[in-house]
Amino acid sequence: MSENITIHAYDLTREKRNARHQHQSFVLWFTGLSGSGKSTIANKVESALFEKQKQVYSLDGDNIRSGINKGLGFTKEDRKENLRRIAEVAKLFVDAGHISVAAFVSPLASDRALVKTIIGEKDFIEIFVDTSLEECERRDVKGLYQKARAGEIKNFTGIDAPYEAPKKPAIHIKTEEKTVDQAVEEILNYIDNLI
Ligand code: ADX
Repeated sequence: MSENITIHAYDLTREKRNARHQHQSFVLWFTGLSGSGKSTIANKVESALFEKQKQVYSLDGDNIRSGINKGLGFTKEDRKENLRRIAEVAKLFVDAGHISVAAFVSPLASDRALVKTIIGEKDFIEIFVDTSLEECERRDVKGLYQKARAGEIKNFTGIDAPYEAPKKPAIHIKTEEKTVDQAVEEILNYIDNLI
């Protein structure tokens, strides 16, 4: 399929966009169990960066799955394709000079490695939103854990599908030990010298 494709180099580069925006672009990749607080923290980080006049755009699990990735489920293969497409989209935002905020369960180390390869190591900042399964299940904001326990949802991360915690995330947020605002502060401090 791709044999007759030629990539055209456009004059308007990422560097020119970064210079116009007066900041670098990269991806903040949030990983963690469903209900761990990824979207809550990502949402606040995005708003804080926007207030600081940064170009920023969020991609989020549930939203992407009702749009560009509608039709993909939660088998190993579908999750991989879900994350591969998201990584390509996040990369486009980086090229467009935006800080791309991506919040996805992304449970397998191999899939996150693929994401990192697509985005490029230096533009990929992995943030592990570490909330125990017990706590996620206790919160059960969307009622999905209850359904998964009842066998009404198959391949549910943490119940009958694995979650492989990142071994060396750039940022490790233990949500049971800090507030959302403290987590946001930690992330903003980390990226301060990258911007
Ligand atoms: S990922 O594994 O492919 O990265 P993604 O982040 O896009 O997952 O979607 C996860 C969201 O889909 C969860 O927050 C939850 O609301 C919903 N969901 C529905 N079924 C499942 C499932 N089997 N496993 C995990 N999340 C599920």
